[in-house]
Amino acid sequence: MSAKTTSMDRRSQPRLTCRSKDQAVNEQRPHALLIDGKAVAAREVEETAAAAQELIARGVRPGLAVVLVGEDPASHVYVRSKGKAAESCGFHSVQHTLPASTSEASLVALVEKLNDDPAIHGILVQLPLPGQIDAARVLETIAPGKDVDGFHPVNAGLLAIGDVSRALVPCTPAGSMILLREAARDLNIKLAGLEAVVVGRSNIVGKPMAQLLLAENCTVTIAHSRTNDLAATVGRADVVVAAVGRPEMIRGDWIKPGAIVIDVGINRVPGEGLDKNGKARTRLVGDVEFESAAMRAGAITPVPGGVGPMTIAMLMKNTLKAAVRSASLQKR
Ligand code: GUN
Repeated sequence: MSAKTTSMDRRSQPRLTCRSKDQAVNEQRPHALLIDGKAVAAREVEETAAAAQELIARGVRPGLAVVLVGEDPASHVYVRSKGKAAESCGFHSVQHTLPASTSEASLVALVEKLNDDPAIHGILVQLPLPGQIDAARVLETIAPGKDVDGFHPVNAGLLAIGDVSRALVPCTPAGSMILLREAARDLNIKLAGLEAVVVGRSNIVGKPMAQLLLAENCTVTIAHSRTNDLAATVGRADVVVAAVGRPEMIRGDWIKPGAIVIDVGINRVPGEGLDKNGKARTRLVGDVEFESAAMRAGAITPVPGGVGPMTIAMLMKNTLKAAVRSASLQKR
């Protein structure tokens, strides 16, 4: 996609790109500003790395421990990326890889050990966990101050009472909010008072996203698979956050003209033809029908390259925040 950086960008990294130049002559082209999550994430990681250097100079090196149980290939890829990002920020980075047969008791014991380790400021237990382990029990064992995923009930509770600065906020919604704020600023729109619809009610994305939108004074609806008229609900939204995990479920013609669309979904679907090894091609799509939604939206995140890169960037930011707090350099 040929792209033009918006002139309102205050920093060196492009945030939003736009194809508006040819729009008037070719109505088939997307109207929406394209929200460049990759560029924003790179900027966030760069800022975190710079802040980490200052902390290291004061004698505290942020430490992140990632715990992986089992053989899930996607989880291995995610965990490797998290470790690499931590290293690129100058953090102390450790990975614990445990067999799929690991008992709940031994995983809990490892988390307790990490809770007591002063070199570790952030603990992340990669999900999903094997069936014999109660994920809630493990997540509740993580010390809330080291819960860089923001999944512990203490952090969920702080977010629910609107104490956003004190909570460690789940990474995907936190990253989505940054993209949303930048899009609103570039479109010259105030978020306060807007109708926001979050499609999806998970504890990891949908519910915390709704709390963050509420903290921005949006009027928030959480829609889900049992919502009576999803098309009408989405159709009245100035802000749509799609987090249902169903490929292209949100149709482009549902989108209100000018709305900001944040697509959290990352779904692999069959592509066209075969790759060079003779395997059927696949491609990634979001929860929103991108091409048709981009014809109506004011701004939209692409998949890939939208919300995805922000999740790891926010994990780095949470780890830094946890380390700063542990060093008592910050009261709250
Ligand atoms: N599995 C998929 N996404 C995530 C995430 O953000 N955190 C953890 N802990 N596990 C995941």
